[in-house]
Amino acid sequence: MNGIKLCGTGAAAPVKVVTNDDMAAMVETSDEWITTRTGIKERRYCTDETQLSLCMDAARQAMDRAGVSPADLGVCLVATISPDFITPSVSCLLQRELGLPEDCLCMDLNAACSGFLYGLHTAQCLLDACPRKYGLVVGGEAFTRLVDFTDRTTCILFGDGAGAAVVRSGPDCPVLHTVVGARGDEKVLHIPGAGTGVPPYIHMEGTAVFKFAVETVPKCITQVLEQAHMTAEDIDLFVLHQANERIIDRVVKNLHLPPEKCPKNIARYGNTSAASIPLLLHELCASGALKPGMRALLSGFGGGLTWGGAILELDGEAH
Ligand code: COA
Repeated sequence: MNGIKLCGTGAAAPVKVVTNDDMAAMVETSDEWITTRTGIKERRYCTDETQLSLCMDAARQAMDRAGVSPADLGVCLVATISPDFITPSVSCLLQRELGLPEDCLCMDLNAACSGFLYGLHTAQCLLDACPRKYGLVVGGEAFTRLVDFTDRTTCILFGDGAGAAVVRSGPDCPVLHTVVGARGDEKVLHIPGAGTGVPPYIHMEGTAVFKFAVETVPKCITQVLEQAHMTAEDIDLFVLHQANERIIDRVVKNLHLPPEKCPKNIARYGNTSAASIPLLLHELCASGALKPGMRALLSGFGGGLTWGGAILELDGEAH
């Protein structure tokens, strides 16, 4: 099977910035509590933007940076749990907006915050069977539409945003070593669906999710490294789901990873669910921290419960 390489990234965030002091005006909380318990200082909320407009913006940038035209794309996958419509899918609307060929496989994925990792894994498999060799993988959320702004235990955590990646499949691309996992459980984290008579807001047992994350993510990273016959020293950067700074720090500590290899942007965006990993990945590519030929290990966890990890190499010709 052909592997994939990362060729270009993009990201988009709404204009409206909501600080911890703004949150404290809505619910009984404080900048001090949010900062020490989560590492979040601010997040972005959609006003004029939609989930689709964020995804379009990020996808266009990723295609520009990869130097690909719509006709090059064989696969378009969007990871999201907060689309503007249940149907049509976001990926179908991207087909129209980006002018993708009608035989480009367009599909949305629901794996909550692990969605981008599920998307990369799926893109590799689908592209191997596709005559066109480029794929678009987007993670985009207008997550704040799923937040109960009277529940201080959840509303302070989340924000809106999107990140996108163009990947190339080819015999010269290393196989994407991936671990994806699922353990069905609606007790610790769920969002009710349409027709249930309950508003579609996130319900979460924070401590149980925290425990799940600090157990699962290190295990997942270790498994991906083992699968690739690599050690942490072979990885240039670890791009971890930005859910809570304390979770990231625990993972870094448990695995003895060098903190400078584990960048964070949670202070500026909060938890953007499926957008979190591609948003950070884009910042690292755009700043030059992740250079052509370098390897990033991406890992995250989320509702489902789901988790995932993947080792992705930046293509030599990317910028
Ligand atoms: N402001 C002030 N106090 C708050 C608060 C807020 N926003 N939210 C909760 N509290 C209070 C609680 O009511 C509790 O008060 P009590 O002791 O009087 O009962 C106290 O703070 C401690 O609550 P607790 O839930 O134990 O805090 P915590 O240290 O576990 O932090 C989370 C809570 C949600 C930040 C943390 O559990 C977490 O990040 N979990 C993982 C969530 C996650 O990653 N979800 C996304 C999945 S992709």
